[in-house]
Amino acid sequence: MPLAHPSDHRPHARGDVSVNPIFTREPVEIPRHRMPAGELDPDTAYQVVHDELMLDGNARLNLATFVTTWMEPQARTLMAECFDKNMIDKDEYPRTAELEQRCVHMLAELWHAPEAARPTGCSTTGSSEACMLAGLAMKRRWQHGGGGQGRPNIVMGVDVQVCWEKFADYWEVEARLVPMAGDRFHLTAEEAVKYCDENTIGVVAVLGSTFDGSYEPVAEICAALDRLQEDDGWDIPVHVDGASGAMIAPFCDPDLVWDFRLDRVCSINTSGHKYGLVYPGVGWVVWRDAAVLPEDLVFRVNYLGGDMPTFALNFSRPGAQVAAQYYTFLRLGFAGFERVQSYSREVATGLAGRIAKLGPFRLLTDGRELPVFAFTVADGEPFSVFDVSAALRERGWLVPAYTFPAGREDLAVLRIVVRTGFTHDLADLLIDDLTACLPRLREQSGPARGNEAASFSHGAAK
Ligand SMILES: Cc1ncc(COP(=O)(O)O)c(C=O)c1O
Repeated sequence: MPLAHPSDHRPHARGDVSVNPIFTREPVEIPRHRMPAGELDPDTAYQVVHDELMLDGNARLNLATFVTTWMEPQARTLMAECFDKNMIDKDEYPRTAELEQRCVHMLAELWHAPEAARPTGCSTTGSSEACMLAGLAMKRRWQHGGGGQGRPNIVMGVDVQVCWEKFADYWEVEARLVPMAGDRFHLTAEEAVKYCDENTIGVVAVLGSTFDGSYEPVAEICAALDRLQEDDGWDIPVHVDGASGAMIAPFCDPDLVWDFRLDRVCSINTSGHKYGLVYPGVGWVVWRDAAVLPEDLVFRVNYLGGDMPTFALNFSRPGAQVAAQYYTFLRLGFAGFERVQSYSREVATGLAGRIAKLGPFRLLTDGRELPVFAFTVADGEPFSVFDVSAALRERGWLVPAYTFPAGREDLAVLRIVVRTGFTHDLADLLIDDLTACLPRLREQSGPARGNEAASFSHGAAK
């Protein structure tokens, strides 16, 4: 079954791909779903693909994604120079492999891995793969430690990104998801320990939540698990999913203790392609030291030359993103990252404050942790967050609207992710467009989209 996006259904599409006649010397028919029988001129093939992609959204106006949408021309050049390098061929491309190692060293130091430990970590395709590897290491350690009596479980807030539900499902670990309640939108120490037992392979703390950008209290969770160990003897490790925050907190919140400074933190992941400021295709996972990564998870292959240890889900993978990550680390250094991330936070908090002042919105977060914030429509307004999202879409902005998970499914929000390249100027333009669509939205007789569309009480409007 091909995995298709729901918008793939195009009842009016012609059978073949139609080509603008100006691009071809003679009419061509290009089948849409079959490989063409013959060859095509490269310029024509390029134009056909280019034209199709033209209708994708403008990545810079996509305020839904955490993933980098702008890099410097020098980084693009480097990436183009490395497109043909396969990250797995470490014997063939030893310098790319060396750059990967240098990045691991830099991240281990940034996250305060114990100095004596040789940094243990690797690049991945993104945080999802990094989380799978970290989860597998926790499961294998639990098994080596005697494996309790029952089925392994992993404890996390219901706000975790879907990769953790995949991990639990694919590797047959029970996902113990702590629901939201009231104004508690992420995992707390008190709730985390309630869900643990002797079969808990680990607790996942997220820095910060995909749903609203808030940081989970990693130090409090670790302290509560310390007390649990004193009482019950269970030594439960913590993995920090720092997909975004592990590249924000070290620069913007140096006093926040969330990383390997906490003894219970055994591994940390981040997405190089989020606040690591690299185009999509790179993540990182670092373990506290070699002792917490079971040796029997690491495969050794000799068929690429040399004796290569590998712990990965993929085999072949682009080397370009790793080169670009190293470029970014060199180019910005600590001070540069601090400047760029602080600017994003400043834009996010400024924008959140202005949205709050518009009147019909209520902030859930304000961008002071991840430069990301979620807001909802105040009670009694005759429109829904989904109406706002659709109105902004008309102006080219992609601001997602969605409902919260278990415990607060009743709450629907909009979320804005501020990334490098999203300036105060763009924020001004967004505010202008949001302000411009409000009179029309406020004239609606009730929400047009979402659950409230059915249940809205018209008497409550305005
Ligand atoms: C907290 C968190 N973990 C994991 C992921 C998955 O990351 P990736 O897209 O790099 O696989 C995301 C993505 O948004 C995330 O926000």
